[in-house]
Amino acid sequence: SDAEWDLLFRELRDLETKFPALITPDSPTHRVGGTPATALTKHAHRRAMLSLSNAFSPEEVREWEERNARLNPDTRLSSYTTEIKIDGAAVNLTYAEGRFVLGTTRGNGIQGEVITTNLKTIPDIPLVLKGNDHPPLMEIRGEVYMPKEVFVLVNAERIGAGEAPFANPRNVSAGSLRQLDPSITRSRRLRFFAFHIEVINGTIPQSTQHETLELLEAWGFPVEPHHQQFENLALVLNAIPTVETLLPTLPFAADGVVIKVNSRALQEDLGVVGGREPRWAIARKFAPEVAITRLKAIQINVGRTGSLNPYAILDPVEIAGVTVSSATLHNEEIIAQRDIRIGDWVEIIRAGEVIPQVLGPLRERRDGTEQPFRMPSTCPACGVPAERPTDEVMVYCVNPACPERLFEGIVHFASREAMDIRGLGTERIRQLMDAGLVKDVADLYTLVPEDLIQLDRFAAQSAEQLVQAITASKERPLSTVVFGLGIRHVGKQVATLLARRFGTMAALRTAEPVAIEAIPGVGPTIAETVVAWLGTDQSQALLNRLADAGVGKDEPTVEVREGPLIGETVVLTGTLPTLSRDDARGRIEAAGGRVTGSITRKTTLVLAGEDAGGKLENARKLGIPIIDETEFFRRLHTLDGGAGEAPA
Ligand code: IVH
Repeated sequence: SDAEWDLLFRELRDLETKFPALITPDSPTHRVGGTPATALTKHAHRRAMLSLSNAFSPEEVREWEERNARLNPDTRLSSYTTEIKIDGAAVNLTYAEGRFVLGTTRGNGIQGEVITTNLKTIPDIPLVLKGNDHPPLMEIRGEVYMPKEVFVLVNAERIGAGEAPFANPRNVSAGSLRQLDPSITRSRRLRFFAFHIEVINGTIPQSTQHETLELLEAWGFPVEPHHQQFENLALVLNAIPTVETLLPTLPFAADGVVIKVNSRALQEDLGVVGGREPRWAIARKFAPEVAITRLKAIQINVGRTGSLNPYAILDPVEIAGVTVSSATLHNEEIIAQRDIRIGDWVEIIRAGEVIPQVLGPLRERRDGTEQPFRMPSTCPACGVPAERPTDEVMVYCVNPACPERLFEGIVHFASREAMDIRGLGTERIRQLMDAGLVKDVADLYTLVPEDLIQLDRFAAQSAEQLVQAITASKERPLSTVVFGLGIRHVGKQVATLLARRFGTMAALRTAEPVAIEAIPGVGPTIAETVVAWLGTDQSQALLNRLADAGVGKDEPTVEVREGPLIGETVVLTGTLPTLSRDDARGRIEAAGGRVTGSITRKTTLVLAGEDAGGKLENARKLGIPIIDETEFFRRLHTLDGGAGEAPA
């Protein structure tokens, strides 16, 4: 859980302070945030984007003030603000002359990624500021978040689609911001709160954090409304328990309270520790709420990709104000690792997050009647033997004709996120399937009003309307249709990449495996799944029928036509010091190069790491240039002006 992570992080940092020789280069204390995606442009922050140190008790908050007071005795007289710590994704918005000109992720705090277009899809972020008293150049920092309500909807769709749900609103905010296609970002209905101004050029007259928040509001930024100002730290500590009870009731995930020294001058004087955390602010975090209840049964839901998704049926229990009666169990491996048995008393946690998690059993409460869970060997919906692919944790129903899979598949296809067919909800789909009118998504396009009128709850008008809505969906772009097909691993992003590469249904249907593998951003696992899917007669027939019905608007194809590696056919061999194979491949492709598996006369460049074997000798024999990772970065860097920077 997040709380455990925080504690382990501290323990690690303390150990590293005591035993610096044990610090490893990849220690999490040296690194903040995820690895940037290769496809987004990097941007070095003008000023580092800081993180916060944590306090887990009132005592630790007092110690924090004491430490600051030793550096500057004025701290003892300081007033403070408290703000809700919003659990989303930190972003940095640059405003020049009051206009939004650049938006980035935090990245590792030093370097982020440019996501301006995606941020412009968030209505909370003003493109032009109100008033005319803005510093000529400044950065507004704040948090992009997904409201809990939206998070629940997005996850329900994913579970229905046989995809793993997002663990928390933070992951989904960050993921939604780093999409290559802004329409996906827009569909996630993200929101924004501002909490900090970093003036680059010019000044602001405000002398306190409290006034800064008011200024942000006056400029048109949403500011989380529960911020307060206090004369001294004792009053802060008095107020915090009330704020703590507020957190679970907020419409967004919140993981603590940020206490900030109010005076900007004092903030400036206290400064930053280790280039990473400001001394003038601290996050007061709370232990997450836990409840204990009985796990009555484990049931299976069949997703559209055929995944068999186990979930726990619980004796209803209240956690943080919400009644919980079921919880996802993800897959059989997690159930086995945590030794969760049917009939167990289990600990459920809901840590500022939305999905309750089964932490594990209370073994001491067992009476011997608990039953270990066995994943069924056949699909509970169709009875066909289920399979578990070698490198996956999920078990799948492999019967493409499984009624439950087909049903979930049509639900997904018709959903708002995909083809958006109004009036075609789960009940209607059941009805059409039960009547034998629809077996798969292509059948939808054969429906005529006369078929429908004969069914219950259909009148002439509703029958007409539904057929019209289905016909209207033919106009959706190819990428939407591909996403709607519900191919395993093909979310909106991959669907867009496929549609942009092949342009038409016919071209996609007959795509060569190598062409799919070469799409930047499509890794080997995804490529393999898509190739396998396209390889079956059923898929071929389905695509043909959809194309014949005129479903899907062709999409303009896009290819990388410039870059330092344009025209190069590159072979990767051996282990590179910092880049994974996928990462290297992504960078080569983003730079316009092609990656192939074996050395041939067409190979123009070999990127070799350690333990490169036969391929290297082959390349030498053929006189093909061989480079190492450093040279690779140099080529990307010097030839394209920095887009291929080495990872931090
Ligand atoms: S102040 C420059 N205030 O928490 C000041 N951070 O764990 C540094 N966060 O990266 C941050 N709500 O993204 C601040 N009211 C708030 C916040 C907040 C959420 C995030 C922020 C930061 C992270 C640190």
